[in-house]
Amino acid sequence: MNNFIFENGTKVIFGKGCVKEYLSCFLKHYGNNVMLAYGGGSIKKNGIYDEIMGVLEKDGKTIVEFNGIMANPTYAKVTEGAKLARENQVDVILAVGGGSVMDCSKAISMAAKYDGDLWSDYWAKPGIIDFEPVPLCVIVTVSGTGSEMNGGAVITNEELKVKTGRDYPKCNPKLALLDPTYTFSVPVKQMVSGGFDSLSHIMEIYFSAPDEPNVSDDIAEALMRGVIRDLRAAIKNPKDYTARSNLMWEAVMAENRIIKLGKKTDFECHMMEHQLGAFTDCNHGAGLAVLHPVYYRHIYKEGIAKFKRFAMEVWGISGNGRADEEIALAGIDALEKFISEIGLPNKLRDLGVDEKTDLKAVADSCTCVQGAYKAMTHEEIHEIFKECY
Ligand code: NZQ
Ligand code: ZN
Repeated sequence: MNNFIFENGTKVIFGKGCVKEYLSCFLKHYGNNVMLAYGGGSIKKNGIYDEIMGVLEKDGKTIVEFNGIMANPTYAKVTEGAKLARENQVDVILAVGGGSVMDCSKAISMAAKYDGDLWSDYWAKPGIIDFEPVPLCVIVTVSGTGSEMNGGAVITNEELKVKTGRDYPKCNPKLALLDPTYTFSVPVKQMVSGGFDSLSHIMEIYFSAPDEPNVSDDIAEALMRGVIRDLRAAIKNPKDYTARSNLMWEAVMAENRIIKLGKKTDFECHMMEHQLGAFTDCNHGAGLAVLHPVYYRHIYKEGIAKFKRFAMEVWGISGNGRADEEIALAGIDALEKFISEIGLPNKLRDLGVDEKTDLKAVADSCTCVQGAYKAMTHEEIHEIFKECY
């Protein structure tokens, strides 16, 4: 194992009924003014809004609602939320939703306490947070990003056409309430997209040095097998509590820094998908599904041992005296088949990316990461986009 320091500031309460049981005792440690942040309104249809309002009203909280947080949240929305939080002297933010609501709320928690320009000082480049953001509690309603137990917030600056994530430990939610039954109403298409996002996070970490035996890779393999199994089960029966609860925790384990310990990590697919998102507003998990197999066929030769191990340990492909390269490619083929099996797109055109999109401009705007088996150039990223189209 390589050296590491580990810390995670989020308390997690997991299980059916946890919001009703624990929200009130968490909030009593903070002031009276609660900002309730949510998305486009799914929580009003599935009863989650009423359940939370019941708790807040019983406790006599002053509630400031901030809704309409969109998928791929924008910096303009962060600014709007921060203004509302300041005007109402909000003591705590309660974010109810998926990655978009949680990420936007993290950025609001900072912007509400920061007098400078948040984008240029903390998202355009990494910054040091020398102030306390507004405390944040999250209630997860769709699994996938793992935002609930990390400090990551991915924000789109529409003017600059840049979608960037930063992981600031000070932005870790103080509390994450995870009730798997809250995800029962998530449409299958979004559930699958979230599940694939979790799988993507695990792969982005797994496919990087070191390759000698290490605990992080061992856990990653178990998690990948779990996501595959649980997505299949939840597609068959969206109200399968076992499958939904596993998917919820797998999403957290994929992005709560534990399997990153001692690893370099890749995340080039995420860099590519984020910029596709900045230019086209495409769905995050579905965009990753299109990119991964094509990207892996570009890099597997530089990480052949790990790709062989992926094929055998995750997909159960037997060696049978075959060459390493053949086994490695069979693993990538299995991943691609799984993507089709669960109904995710294989092509950017099926993702709704307009043929007029300037893929070269998107490629040129992507960050080329340091930790991958093979360093990408903007030209190769452009090739990948063209192959994906
Ligand atoms: O907006 P509403 O009406 O609530 O509908 C949402 C939204 O349309 C719906 N939904 C959520 N819970 C539901 C539900 N529908 C029915 N029943 C429920 N219980 O689901 C849709 C998608 O929500 P969204 O939050 O956008 O999805 P997701 O969780 O996939 O988040 C995606 C965002 O997170 C970022 C992505 O880039 C993207 O912007 N990421 C954040 C990360 C992090 N902070 O660590 C890491 C990821 O790699 C990712 O980049
Ligand atoms: Zn992701």
